[in-house]
Amino acid sequence: MGGAQPLAVTLNGGACLCVEVDASRIERRIEHGYLDVRADSLAEAMALLEQAKRDRAALSVGLLGNAADVFPRLLAEGADIDVVTDQTSAHDPLMYLPVGVDFDDWVPRRTEDPDGFTTAARESMARHCEAMVGFADAGAEVFDYGNSLRAEAREGGFSRAFDYPGFVPAYIRPLFCAGKGPFRWAALSGDPADIAATDRAVLDLFPDDDHLQRWIRAAQRRVSFQGLPARICWLGMGERHLAGLRFNDMVAAGELSAPLAIGRDHLDCGSVASPYRETEAMRDGSDAIADWPLLNAWSTSPPVPPGSPSTTGVASASAARSTPVRWSSSTAPRWRAKRQSGC
Ligand SMILES: NC(=O)c1ccc[n+]([C@@H]2O[C@H](COP(=O)([O-])OP(=O)(O)OC[C@H]3O[C@@H](n4cnc5c(N)ncnc54)[C@H](O)[C@@H]3O)[C@@H](O)[C@H]2O)c1
Repeated sequence: MGGAQPLAVTLNGGACLCVEVDASRIERRIEHGYLDVRADSLAEAMALLEQAKRDRAALSVGLLGNAADVFPRLLAEGADIDVVTDQTSAHDPLMYLPVGVDFDDWVPRRTEDPDGFTTAARESMARHCEAMVGFADAGAEVFDYGNSLRAEAREGGFSRAFDYPGFVPAYIRPLFCAGKGPFRWAALSGDPADIAATDRAVLDLFPDDDHLQRWIRAAQRRVSFQGLPARICWLGMGERHLAGLRFNDMVAAGELSAPLAIGRDHLDCGSVASPYRETEAMRDGSDAIADWPLLNAWSTSPPVPPGSPSTTGVASASAARSTPVRWSSSTAPRWRAKRQSGC
C-alpha cells in the first residue's frame, strides 16, 4: 500500500482493501487521514467492505498482510472486486517482502543474502501478479501502477505478467494526446491561506471543468499538506499559462504573501522511460528511448535563435535519439553546429 491509493479510492466514492506488511505504515496513514480504518483479519476487512458497498459509502480498510499471500486467497475465495492494482515497492526486489520472511527479518535477510532475497521476492511477485491476472480473467479492471511488478514477476517465472496494461497507456496517454497533464505549485510563504487563494483562482478560471472543480474542492477537504503547502491539478493545452499568469498577477497585487513555485510532475516532463513502465506501448515503438529529460532541458533552456534545431520538438526528438550528448551550455553551440553540418 502506498499513501495515495486509499485516498484516491475514497475521494471517488469507492471502498477498498489495502494490504500492507508494515503495521507502522498502516497507523501512519490512518493518522494522516489517507486511510480510514484497520482490520485485524481478512474476514473482518471483507465484512467492513461488503457493508460499505451495501451502504454505498466510501471506505478504505488497511490489512496487515503480504500481498503475495492475500491476493491469491481473495481470488480463490471468489471475492467480488471490481478494480485491482498494486503499489508495493516492486521496482526494487530488496524493497518487496517475500512470503515466508518475517517483517522483522526483512533488513537482516536482504543484507546477508541479497541474491537469494531477490530470487525469493521475484517468486512472490510472480504469485502476486498471477493473482492479478486471475482477477483480470474474471472480469476485473486490472492495471499496473508503474512500479514494475510485471517485469519482476516475469523474472520470477510468470509468463503472463504483461497480460494487463500499465496505467499510462490505459488511462493517461489519451489525456497527454489532448494536451492535458499535471500542473502543480507550492506556496513559498508556507502559509496555507496562499494555497486557498490559488484554489479560488483556479476554480474561478475554469468553471466548466467538472473534474477540476470536484478535485480542488475534495483536495481542500481531504488532502493534508506535507512540507510546504502545495496543490496539483490537471490542466490542458491553452490552460496552464492562464493559471500561471493569474498567479503572477496575484503575487504582484499582494494577494499572496510570497511567490509560488510552479513545478512539473514526472508524468509531465521526465517520466520513467522504460518499456515495462510508463513509456510502455508507445505507438511509434519508442518505448525505451530516454529522450524526455533532454527535451525537458531544451524546453527550459534560454531561448535560441529562430531556425536552430532545438526550437522544434520534432528536430529535438530525432536528434536526441541519434546523438548522445552530455548537456551543458558549452556543448550546445558545438552540438548545434554539428547538426547543421549534417554530421
Ligand atoms: N506511477 C506513478 O506515478 C508512481 C507514483 C509513486 C510511486 N510509484 C511506484 O509505486 C511503488 C511504491 O511507491 P511508494 O512511494 O508508495 O512507496 P512506499 O515505500 O511508500 O510504499 C510501498 C509499500 O509497500 C509495502 N510492501 C513491500 N512489500 C510488500 C508485500 N509483499 N506486500 C504488501 N506490502 C508490501 C512496504 O512496506 C511499503 O509500505 C514504487 O515502485 C514507485 O516507483 C509510481
